[in-house]
Amino acid sequence: MARKSVELLVNTPADWVDAVLADFDAFLVDHANCERKASALVMSLVVKYPDRTRIIPDLIKLAQEELQHFGEAYQFMERRGLRFYRDSPDPYVNELIALARHGRDERFIDRMLISSLVETRGAERFGLIAAALDDSELKSFYTKLWKSEVKHGHQFVHLLLREIDEDAVYPRLHELAELEAGIVAGLEIRPALH
Ligand SMILES: [Fe+2]
Ligand SMILES: [Fe+2]
Repeated sequence: MARKSVELLVNTPADWVDAVLADFDAFLVDHANCERKASALVMSLVVKYPDRTRIIPDLIKLAQEELQHFGEAYQFMERRGLRFYRDSPDPYVNELIALARHGRDERFIDRMLISSLVETRGAERFGLIAAALDDSELKSFYTKLWKSEVKHGHQFVHLLLREIDEDAVYPRLHELAELEAGIVAGLEIRPALH
């Protein structure tokens, strides 16, 4: 039977957690940027697909939640005396977006499924960080984010299913999950979310 939920096919290597803990300030700025970009990306779906009225209110709520995460990450930055700066390009997200097909429905499906995988990978990594951190406030922040991004990962698939038949959703989700695993395996380890 086909798998019907979003699942990651490879785990993040332990070296990645070590790299993050070794330069947590750099990680925090990169993470803040990821939340900012996640919010903008969801809003870009609203702009690109204004006729998908069944999902727009939920997309707006998702964008607000990501913006909230950005605000919270920014507060942690401020407390550590860090200034905001724009991060360098994210190879993981760029490689995934390059996989999106070009037909109208196909592109919509792929954008939603790629978002689902990015959220799920973010959740996995926030969970690893929450487990590795000693600072209790940061630990509870990343635990909260882990739960939130797990929920978002499922939400993108569920929203997509309101608009698109499941036969066009699950096989493509599994294909993209395989490709995501290959991309993660090839990533350079650095103190960044990806
Ligand atoms: Fe987030
Ligand atoms: Fe999210």
